[in-house]
Amino acid sequence: MPSNETEPRGELALRTFAMPADVNVNGDIFGGWVVSQMDLAGGIVAAARARGRVATVAIETMHFIHPVNIGDVVCVYADIERVGRTSMGLHIEAWILRNPAQERKKVTEALFTFVAIDEAGRPRPVPAEA
Ligand SMILES: CC(C)(COP(=O)(O)OP(=O)(O)OC[C@H]1O[C@@H](n2cnc3c(N)ncnc32)[C@H](O)[C@@H]1OP(=O)(O)O)[C@@H](O)C(=O)NCCC(=O)NCCS
Repeated sequence: MPSNETEPRGELALRTFAMPADVNVNGDIFGGWVVSQMDLAGGIVAAARARGRVATVAIETMHFIHPVNIGDVVCVYADIERVGRTSMGLHIEAWILRNPAQERKKVTEALFTFVAIDEAGRPRPVPAEA
């Protein structure tokens, strides 16, 4: 499904380069590497909201709209769309900026669910917003 969107949704949570070490045997960036950047970005935003440790409990279906090439700047945006008792639902989008035109394209998006956990790894309530 092509995307005509030009504006990302949510806050910019992470920005990084796609590097040669992140490619598969075809020379394309691994989808799993992109998912891991999204997980990191979501974890940063969720931990800030939960004021402490979080764990990823679910990632909803995702599909990849555009390939990522070596040298692309990958920008991950996160938007907290639901806060439950111990869980948070984050809409997360990965975009690329490609030189020299700095063309911006959405690569993929997904709903990630993070759970606030205590030192023992048990769910704990998400505190009220500060
Ligand atoms: C996260 C974890 C502590 C939750 O424990 P649990 O026993 O499932 O806890 P609960 O059943 O009380 O659920 C906690 C919250 O997560 C939500 N949840 C649990 N499974 C879910 C799922 N598959 N999808 C969406 N939400 C889910 C529950 O609805 C609940 O939300 P709420 O409190 O806001 O209503 C536990 O599942 C875990 O440790 N999972 C592994 C996490 C991990 O290691 N992630 C990285 C993988 S490499």
